[in-house]
Amino acid sequence: MATIPLTEKISWIGVNDFETELFEALWPIPQGISYNSYLIRDDKTALIDAVKRNFSDDFMMSLESTLAGKALDYLVINHIEPDHSGAIAPLAGRYPKMCIVGNEKTISLLKGFYNIANPVKIITENEKISLGRHTFEFFMTPMAHWPETMMTYERTTQTLFSGDVFGGFGTLPGGIFDDEVDIEALTPEIRRYFSNVIGKYCLPVQKAIEKIKPLPIKILASTHGPVYREAPQRIINLYSGWSRQETKPGAVIAYASMYGHTEKMAEAVGQGLTENGVKETQIFNVSKTHASFILSEIWVHKALVLGSCTYNGKIFPLMNGLLELLENTGLHGRSLGLFGSFSWSASPLSRLKDFSQKGPWKLISPCPEAKCAPADDVLKACYTLGQNLAKDMLSPNSKQ
Ligand SMILES: Cc1cc2nc3c(=O)[nH]c(=O)nc-3n(C[C@H](O)[C@H](O)[C@H](O)COP(=O)(O)O)c2cc1C
Ligand SMILES: [Fe+2]
Ligand SMILES: [Fe+2]
Repeated sequence: MATIPLTEKISWIGVNDFETELFEALWPIPQGISYNSYLIRDDKTALIDAVKRNFSDDFMMSLESTLAGKALDYLVINHIEPDHSGAIAPLAGRYPKMCIVGNEKTISLLKGFYNIANPVKIITENEKISLGRHTFEFFMTPMAHWPETMMTYERTTQTLFSGDVFGGFGTLPGGIFDDEVDIEALTPEIRRYFSNVIGKYCLPVQKAIEKIKPLPIKILASTHGPVYREAPQRIINLYSGWSRQETKPGAVIAYASMYGHTEKMAEAVGQGLTENGVKETQIFNVSKTHASFILSEIWVHKALVLGSCTYNGKIFPLMNGLLELLENTGLHGRSLGLFGSFSWSASPLSRLKDFSQKGPWKLISPCPEAKCAPADDVLKACYTLGQNLAKDMLSPNSKQ
């Protein structure tokens, strides 16, 4: 997958990363990820974003063969996170006259990360750079994902280079276009990328989507995942809904349990939910399923239930990890159920309730608590919690 044309003069020259275990050293990527870079060859030539440093060799080979002897005039940096800028050192070494284009924040970060002497051009909103027939316009989209983030639009081909926005996890399976891959099959990994990596920045993403609304878009080319040319609006709509934190009916129960007692409580809540009409109920053991996957399910479902045992005087560490992730993303507006178990001191419910007070959650009662094994009345209370969540979700007054 060295070079793939988007138009006569625009080429994808990205790479597939099958190697990295954890994206951002945090998120598992069993299906990998792609770093998409784009080359435009006109009177002048320009590269838009690059790739992670480890992939520089393959990337430089594709670039040189696609340039076919031409010089590289510009590198436009839409986003300087090192998964896109890591290859800058070899680029600068090979093309010392290449002009690096970015906004003021980009260039300040460029100087912080890389010690290179190439010329720079600082651009502002709506400024234009002409390559000949092709002309770039720039749209600042700060904090969608970093402060310097921007998008580049090429009007003659109606191509939007959108940076991380509209990206996803998952390598490109040979084809790169939405009409030649199974986009439905790729969507869970795209949503997981959104919820894990971009979800913290919902408002900036919404602002970015508003800003690009007037642009006619034939090709939507982000930095990760497929290039959209059949239905760019599909991914725009998905990102729009996810960033507005829209939910559908369904419940995610996430629990931590060492010896199965808290697990029994989780099952009782699940029974209360499903027997009262919530078919889309999922139960996750936080010790088995990485929080990355749980977060992606929580993102789109109406109810969240969290249960934990106590571990050395505190809530179980992996449940605390999930809570911290949720606190970090700022996800809110879900109906929330809580339960826990302990044996001699330190109920996990204090940390869970503390969590519930940090955001606008709708806490549904009861909050069952077991001392050692859950007695019948505790399991009944768990069932009631599930039942009350179902009633809340399915009542005609329930929002979304
Ligand atoms: C390593 C370990 C540490 C524990 N620390 C505490 C504790 O500090 N306070 C407490 O009340 N219970 C503590 N417990 C007891 C469990 O939280 C309690 O038995 C709980 O019901 C276990 O639920 P589970 O069967 O779902 O793992 C600890 C248990 C283990 C195995
Ligand atoms: Fe990023
Ligand atoms: Fe990225």
